[in-house]
Amino acid sequence: MTTTPRVAVVTGASSGIGEATARALHAAGYRVALLARRTDRITATAAELGDGALAIAADVTDRDSLTTAAAQVKTELGRADVLINNAGIMLLGPFSADQRDDYRQMIEVNLLGAITTTEVFLDQLTASKGGDIVNISSVAGRTARAGNGVYAATKWGINGWSEALRQELLPAVRVTLIEPGVVATELPTHITHGQTKTAVADLYDKATVTAEDIAEVITFTLSRPRYLAINEILLRPADQL
Ligand SMILES: NC(=O)c1ccc[n+]([C@@H]2O[C@H](COP(=O)([O-])OP(=O)(O)OC[C@H]3O[C@@H](n4cnc5c(N)ncnc54)[C@H](OP(=O)(O)O)[C@@H]3O)[C@@H](O)[C@H]2O)c1
Repeated sequence: MTTTPRVAVVTGASSGIGEATARALHAAGYRVALLARRTDRITATAAELGDGALAIAADVTDRDSLTTAAAQVKTELGRADVLINNAGIMLLGPFSADQRDDYRQMIEVNLLGAITTTEVFLDQLTASKGGDIVNISSVAGRTARAGNGVYAATKWGINGWSEALRQELLPAVRVTLIEPGVVATELPTHITHGQTKTAVADLYDKATVTAEDIAEVITFTLSRPRYLAINEILLRPADQL
């Protein structure tokens, strides 16, 4: 008997953890929709992956672009079984009025972006024979530090929302929270506070954990039998405090 491949929608699939996860899930037999704003990157990745990979321009702060993306997923791939809420930005720095735009942007992308993407895809996920939502949080969703207050607030927010969602959607849709420590990606390159950007870039230059490591964990989590839900995974480089 042949089974229809599951369909995974990955936000922020143009780089880092999102791109690696789209690649890993495609290699595992999923059909994947790669969502991001940098269409050149997702188009190139989808073309490289070939059959069963679809690039869709979407900004998670723009609900209309998400409803258009959801309609395209439905038309071209049938439905979404898995949603990976991965799109995120980390604009660190000491709390100051100078960074008020950064704060709003992080909340819009990291927290409201994930919430909006989920409500837009919810009918497809609940119609699936086995839906999954994977929310990419962070160690910063568990421990706050000086200089990461609003980023941590968005990730603590994701953690609280995920737990409520898990209880509301079980058993039809499993909700999993992934909380990585430092992972070698472009994430710190967008920091606007100069001193912080340099310090964090130094830390990320030495990063050992790769986006592929996280993608492998996500793929494993999704592959568990439906009676088993892995609710939360906190993972750090072995030498991270
Ligand atoms: N790297 C780490 O150390 C680390 C640790 C813990 C958690 N995380 C989390 O992992 C997730 C992925 O980050 P990453 O490390 O892989 O960094 P990354 O390479 O910078 O990837 C971030 C992704 O988010 C997308 N994105 C940003 N704003 C968006 C928007 N408005 N609409 C749609 N997509 C948007 C970007 O795509 P476009 O710019 O093309 O739209 C990009 O694909 C984030 O949620 C981050 O907080 C990362």
